[in-house]
Amino acid sequence: MLYMLDSANIEEIRKACDVFPLAGVTTNPSIITREKKDFFSLLKEIRSVIGNKMMHVQVLGTTTEDMLKDAASIREKVDGSLFIKIPVSDAGYKAMQILKKDGFGITATAIYTPQQALIAANCGADFTAPYVNRIDNISGMGVNVVSMITDLFNLHGLSTRVLAASFKNVQQVHEVALAGTHSVTVGADILWKLARHPLTDMSVEQFTKDWNAQYGEGKCIYNM
Ligand code: G3P
Repeated sequence: MLYMLDSANIEEIRKACDVFPLAGVTTNPSIITREKKDFFSLLKEIRSVIGNKMMHVQVLGTTTEDMLKDAASIREKVDGSLFIKIPVSDAGYKAMQILKKDGFGITATAIYTPQQALIAANCGADFTAPYVNRIDNISGMGVNVVSMITDLFNLHGLSTRVLAASFKNVQQVHEVALAGTHSVTVGADILWKLARHPLTDMSVEQFTKDWNAQYGEGKCIYNM
């Protein structure tokens, strides 16, 4: 399962990339506006931090025509591994088919139902992003939606991947992992919570304490 960071914050991205083998970074207009920076300068800055990892960038246009123009503009200014995020609206489904023919990587986003994901896969989406927590907020069982999408893709032999998104806690991420999602995108707070445990830190402290008691402070294996 691939882990991506759902953020446009350069410091968050830098810290996460330094420690974890992230597959990429995902953004949306709300995430971008939080940074209060010039849009394309920010994307270029993100690219310089993540190298050629995947960057998922969302269009803002709501008509097919505007989505196509947004996508072209993003591709012109952002190099490397790029996926254009397109919401699964009527205009979006149409845009995905045209962009696919033009060789764009596509991430279908703002998905709330399994059928939306299946239709997006048919339109040529490389990734489909169901919004787990937002589905939970309408009592729609986000994990079940992810599970049904992965089942549908496997059942119909589709290569489109599930990129589960919108998480508010570690348990949601764990459950979509068990449900077989191919990838997740999580905020920095969730990423660190997934990776850390206080008992791990306590264990390491005890190892150091025992070692120091026998061999003296500051003695590591390499300087014995
Ligand atoms: O990538 C989509 C995601 O950013 C939506 O998350 O937390 O705003 O529901 P959220």
